[in-house]
Parts: sequence; C-alpha cells; structure tokens
Amino acid sequence: MSSERMLVLGSENIDLVYGVDHIVRAGETISSTGLKRSAGGKGANQSAALGKAGMPVFFAGKIGRDGVWILDLLRSFGVDVSLTVIRDDVDTGQAIIQVDADGQNSIILTPGGNKAFTEDEIDSILSSFGEGDSIILQNEINLIGYAMEKALERGMRIILNPSPFDGTIRDLPLDLVDIFFVNEIEGAELAGLSETDDDEGFRRIAGELVRLYPKASIVLTAGSRGAYYATSDGIWHAPVVPCEAVDTTGAGDTFCGYFLASMQDGLDPQASLARASRAASITVSRPGAMLSMPLKSEVL
Ligand code: RIB
Repeated sequence: MSSERMLVLGSENIDLVYGVDHIVRAGETISSTGLKRSAGGKGANQSAALGKAGMPVFFAGKIGRDGVWILDLLRSFGVDVSLTVIRDDVDTGQAIIQVDADGQNSIILTPGGNKAFTEDEIDSILSSFGEGDSIILQNEINLIGYAMEKALERGMRIILNPSPFDGTIRDLPLDLVDIFFVNEIEGAELAGLSETDDDEGFRRIAGELVRLYPKASIVLTAGSRGAYYATSDGIWHAPVVPCEAVDTTGAGDTFCGYFLASMQDGLDPQASLARASRAASITVSRPGAMLSMPLKSEVL
C-alpha cells in the first residue's frame, strides 16, 4: 500500500447504549439495566481505530454543536478533524443501541448531519487530497456515489465498507472500489450467493467478489469463523481471537482501521488479518464503541 494520506468521509454519532437482558421484541416494554452516552458512528469509529493504530488520518464528518465533544476525543487519538463541517442548523447523528447479555447489539440510527452533506461540502473536503491518497466510506452518509466519483477524478483509492447494507448499495459505482470491507451477510448479498457458515462457503463468496470486482481487494469478516482477504492472487485467512463478548459494537470498525494500518505498516495480508482480529477481539471484550478500541501498544 502507498504511504499517502487517508481520509475517512463518514458518520459521527452520539451512541445511546442501553444494556438489556434481551433485545426488545415487538409490542414489548422492558427496563434497561443501564444507559451510557458514548462516541460512535462508523466513520468516526474507523478514524479512531486508524488513529489508535498509529496512522495519520483525517476525519471529515458533518455534525451539530452537540457533537463537538466527539471531535475532541478523536483529536486525542491523533485524528485530524479539521475538515469536519460543524453547523448550527443540524443535529449530530444519534444511534440508539441495545446491547444484550451476550454482547450482541441492535441499532436504530437518526442520521442528523450525516445525511445532510452537500456536493459543495464534499468538493471542498476532497480538494485537500490527490493522487495516491485514500478515501474510506461507509453507508451512513448521503452522496456516497458522488464522493466516489469525485475521489476517483482526483486519483484517490476508494475503500468502501457498505455497512449498514441496504438497497442503495447496488446503485453505487461499485466498480470504482479498490478495497471492500464486508461482513459475512454483506459479502453474501454483494456476491449474490446464499449465506454460509463454513470455510468453503466464505472462500466461495470472497472468490465471487474478486470475480465481480476484479480491480478490488476483498476483506471479509466472518464472525467466529475469522476473516478472509482475497485478491486475484489468492485468499488468505486468519482465525478469530477468542474472547468473552461484552459488547460487539465497533468490532467491525476496529477490524477495518487496524487492517488498513497494518498493511500500511508493511505487514503482509496474513499478519494484517491476525493483528486486526486481535484488535477487534479486545474491542468486543469491553463496553462501548470508540472508547473500547485498543491502542497499538496493547494489540502488539
Ligand atoms: O459500527 C458501530 C457504530 O454503528 C456505532 O457506533 C453506531 O453509531 C452505528 O453507527
């Protein structure tokens, strides 16, 4: 990978995290075991993971004054947040998150500023970047396709984590993507194959994605089955690092940031998968999203 700059153009959320015995069912009213307000949003989380992994990274989000405290936190992790748009007439995005006794979650998003980007704002953010720089996008902001096309015009590499996966993903110019980060469900959807839970099935999905998007590398996380990296040269796999799950929120974001940082550090795909898996396991073993992510020294 090149050593040029990394831009995360993405979401910032105020996460309202409710501890629950089980995820609430239709028609049911339950009491939470506790409520915590914490920093989140897939874009902000991935920036935090890159920063904590020791990578120089820019985070450009769109938020209201109520979310400035999260920028302070990102800054403390070494993230440059100077390109974030702060507006008095938007609210920062919010996520209502239930975390059950097994650490599994369920999330409702209110996008706020995340879905209020204008083309001018994106043009202005991208004007600081050029040939060889990378843009990292997730599916929690608007104008993703526009950002991909403009980033390509500037010679940037495009990294897409199409999460949360919905019907809009297929409308994006996916053939422009250089690296996909997908989980097992997103990978199967994108490949047009059935969901699976075995090694052969995951390899089939990764291989099909390489066939469909030959210019792209594929990073496929498969929960307890570990993670895969696939290119036209082959498929690499690393097993999951076992841990006691307290809260899975932010695990995928940690994996994404640590994998990119490890490749940038010059590690090979196998070692990068292993380091990212270790980092994600540490995140899962602690409550919260951004704050639960480990520093590089802890992962090493
Ligand atoms: O990936 C985890 C994140 O998803 C949470 O922090 C929440 O804000 C949602 O965006």
